[in-house]
Amino acid sequence: MTDDEPAERIRTDGGTAEGADDVALDPWGSSTVSDYRKLFEEFGIEEFDEVLDEVPNPHYLMRRGVIFGHRDYRPVLDAMRDGDDFAVLSGFMPTGDPHIGHKLVFDEIIWHQEQGGDAYGLIADMEAHSARGIPWDEINEHSRDYLLSLIALGFDPEEGELYRQSDNDRLQRLAFELGGKANFSEFQSIYGFDGETNVSHMQSVVTQMADILYPQLDDPKPTVIPVGPDQDPHVRFARDLATRMRFFKVTEAFASFELDDAERPLVAAAHDAREEYAEDADMPRCGEAAEWLADADLDAAGVLVSESVRESAVEKLENAGMEPLRPRIRFFARQATDEAFEALIEDIEGEKRRYDQHIDAFDMDVDEAEELAREVEAHHGGYGFIPPSSIYHRFMTGLTGGKMSSSIPASHISLLDAPEEGYDKVKSATTGGRDTAEEQRELGGEADKCPVYELYAYLLTGDDDELAKEVYDECVGGERLCGGCKEQAATMMREFLEDHHEKREEAEEILDSLDIDLETERRGVAAEH
Ligand code: TRP
Ligand code: SF4
Repeated sequence: MTDDEPAERIRTDGGTAEGADDVALDPWGSSTVSDYRKLFEEFGIEEFDEVLDEVPNPHYLMRRGVIFGHRDYRPVLDAMRDGDDFAVLSGFMPTGDPHIGHKLVFDEIIWHQEQGGDAYGLIADMEAHSARGIPWDEINEHSRDYLLSLIALGFDPEEGELYRQSDNDRLQRLAFELGGKANFSEFQSIYGFDGETNVSHMQSVVTQMADILYPQLDDPKPTVIPVGPDQDPHVRFARDLATRMRFFKVTEAFASFELDDAERPLVAAAHDAREEYAEDADMPRCGEAAEWLADADLDAAGVLVSESVRESAVEKLENAGMEPLRPRIRFFARQATDEAFEALIEDIEGEKRRYDQHIDAFDMDVDEAEELAREVEAHHGGYGFIPPSSIYHRFMTGLTGGKMSSSIPASHISLLDAPEEGYDKVKSATTGGRDTAEEQRELGGEADKCPVYELYAYLLTGDDDELAKEVYDECVGGERLCGGCKEQAATMMREFLEDHHEKREEAEEILDSLDIDLETERRGVAAEH
């Protein structure tokens, strides 16, 4: 915890599974993360803390740092605040019972739905069958259980959409289109696929790419995908494909030559400083800008990334010599039809110049340009996808320490566990307590390493921050002993499960009224994986 965080924010440092020192983001491997900081440094996931203040009524999982990271979540927040369209989607592999780890994701979907988002929950049955070898009859049964719990927890299926991958034709058509922009080498480098990987598994990957973009099929809109960090490779790939499908690429330029993202701010700074060096400030020349840029104090301006970037920017400016330095928006035709290209030119307002593969526009800003490009694309048979965003939650620690896993019943509490069973599992959970009561009173418990505390923070206390904080403070302050603490948690868990089971029963009728086929007869044996 850093000093400037508000005091009432309570955090758990959960997920410190033992023996998990490597950070590998593998969607089908065993995903444990020992050091969440590495995800920021090595994978470019952004810290959720940086956007927390912009979230209207943040969910308790956000307030408590359980949702710890994101990719490009801001467009979703902007839409939420401005009352614009946005969507949320996540998917579940029906490999076993839904458990309290899945509840985090259910809650995230439901919360975004409550904030006004179009909400989607899907059953990744193709993935379960092809990547995990689960037979269809089991898939049918588990699918039903996931959907019942999602509805029981508050998902509104009238407003939102629930589907099974294998039953969704629009989805499969989209998957096929996206597959045209992906190749096997990428599958190898992103997922470690090789010559032994079964083809249906690959099909399930393009299907997941289609899942992630599915909310935008009718209209492009910011979309958030709440998942565990093991799914980040999928998110990055989907963002990539969303971009590859676009008709036009919109960039900012200053002259005829191209700039990369690192060079652009330097040349922008040179343009801003034109009064200092240009003979005619209304028409600064690239050569003049090059001279200025070569010795400018860019570090102070906060735009210098490295000297080599400066050198390359200076060189480009020098080569352009007498050409005027003048900001413009550049539209590239990525894969636009001639017709779409012509329509774009037509629709650009103000001064414009057309080249073979691109158009320069002098009187618009980037946002206007993006919007125009998307509109023209949509009118000419394109999707106009906005790169999807994601938020990442911590993995829950297993009740017995180590990883929480569907395949180890004692490590998790299933949402189908009998209330008494849930009670018992909490009672026999590992704790962050000390060896003796005396020691505990003296040193305090280690709530940050305690799976029971995690239960309080991630689930049992719900919106009640005060209670969560009380448990934490009493524990680390030595006022709370594990016996009583577990009794309290176990009782709360029993109540939660009782309530959840009741709501699942009510959800049966709702689920049956929906148009989802959960009893498809399918032939075939589970795929080799
Ligand atoms: N691959 C996900 C998992 O292993 C399931 C999934 C399929 C998914 N499609 C998705 C998750 C789309 C998020 C978004 O659990
Ligand atoms: Fe965990 Fe509660 Fe014991 Fe603290 S008192 S270590 S929170 S069980």
